[in-house]
Amino acid sequence: MKWLLLLCLFVYGVQCSSVDYDDYDLTTKSPEPKTVGDPRGHRPSTRGSDHYSPYQPAIPPPISGGSRYRGRPPTTSTDESTLEEQKVEQPDAGGCTHLSEKMGVLCPTGCELKSTIVKQERNVKTAVDELKKDVNELSMSSNTIYRYVDGLSSALRERQRINNDNGNLVGEYTNDLEGQHAFVKDTIDTTFPSSIRVLQSVLQSLRDKIQKVETAIMSQRLKCEKPCTMSCPIPVVSGKECEDIFRKGGDSSEMYLIQPDAFFHPYKVYCDMTTEKGGWTLIQNRQDGSVDFGRRWDDYRAGFGNIASDVGKGFCSTPGEYWLGNDRISQLTKMGPTEVLIEMTDWTGDRVKAQYHQFTVQGETSGYVMAVGKYSGTAGDTLLEGATELIGENRTMTIHNGMMFSTYDRDNDKWVPGDATKQCSREDGGGWWYNRCHSSNPNGRYYWGGEYTKNMAKHGTDDGIVWMNWKGSWYSLKAISMKIRPFFSS
Ligand SMILES: *[C@@H]1O[C@H](CO)[C@@H](O)[C@H](O)[C@H]1NC(C)=O
Repeated sequence: MKWLLLLCLFVYGVQCSSVDYDDYDLTTKSPEPKTVGDPRGHRPSTRGSDHYSPYQPAIPPPISGGSRYRGRPPTTSTDESTLEEQKVEQPDAGGCTHLSEKMGVLCPTGCELKSTIVKQERNVKTAVDELKKDVNELSMSSNTIYRYVDGLSSALRERQRINNDNGNLVGEYTNDLEGQHAFVKDTIDTTFPSSIRVLQSVLQSLRDKIQKVETAIMSQRLKCEKPCTMSCPIPVVSGKECEDIFRKGGDSSEMYLIQPDAFFHPYKVYCDMTTEKGGWTLIQNRQDGSVDFGRRWDDYRAGFGNIASDVGKGFCSTPGEYWLGNDRISQLTKMGPTEVLIEMTDWTGDRVKAQYHQFTVQGETSGYVMAVGKYSGTAGDTLLEGATELIGENRTMTIHNGMMFSTYDRDNDKWVPGDATKQCSREDGGGWWYNRCHSSNPNGRYYWGGEYTKNMAKHGTDDGIVWMNWKGSWYSLKAISMKIRPFFSS
């Protein structure tokens, strides 16, 4: 009993020298501040001079009423064979292969490899973290045991002396002690070192694996210096946008060529032809962090990312991460009443959506002012209502409806205009219709795993892929997408 107590004391008292098993990302994190979990989307006033004015000039309301589309005709049983025929490639419909263009330069192999590698690396790192903890504990306890045995040895010597003096009085006890001593000594001489050796070899093999992954990344990076091209057969069905294509019989979700009007060059876009009756033009998509969304005004204007890739089905059926481009989004939404469907997924696979039955983005001269109306859905209405966990002005300043678009190099937000230290887009990671600043941030930074903290954020702000009314400020979604469709009454 006494020894047990002593052992406990040792465990508490010993400051184990931590062995540095690895030389990369294993630095211990300082304890998280208590503020984690607090809403961060707003920027409350600090001084009188940085007063927030909810006033804004009359913004154009979203286009509503009347529709260039009637409701869909009731679905007649379509003749499969004619549809199949329609999908036959037509060499002069933009050709079957589309090589490097501004949009749609695809690098699927690279992207997939990258996401696999990132996934693997993450698993390995977690395993290493855990192992490191185990090894530390083990070495700590073995240190403790060494001292314990040391103590035990001297106690034993002492006892032996007393034993000599007192004959058989403590003989029994000493035998017991000797037995214990032998057992513990054996344990620390053989069992502990061998366990540590095993763990060290596991660590070594993990380190080797990481080295291999790093080499793979390096070689991939070299390959990706030149944009690789890939070919995807583009369906012969084309149209003004995806609803038009759907009505012409294009009923599979994949990459199509669209031409909204004669003055626009045709361009590639991903059409979702299955969700909620189909006909959706994908304007934004995040799913694996493969594309950087911290970009300039010009990039957001023109669009960036990968439209779609072919994962072995013979056509481009899998959307990539992309932003369609503000000019295109504006043009598409100004053709008539348009609705937007925002779908999102968390890291456990739960899915919610936010739908606005009115959605219009004005042109560049007005800073791509965005207006929405008529919310329905399960994600919570951030665009019109702001963050519902905030109250009063704090909430008002997170409403996105009526805001201009901002990027880190073009500050159009409502947070002290003209003050370069107060720019939402700089702090929050992407281009968006920031107010002061956000309740949703679909173009924010991609965080693997969901939960993140202000210590992980570049500027200590909630710069992840945030939808506050669903998950709060400090949860970054696994996937989010925005799809638009001409509004028609069903
Ligand atoms: C706004 O938020 C700040 C900090 O988050 C808080 O100190 C302030 O009391 C809030 N104001 C209102 C009206 O809730």
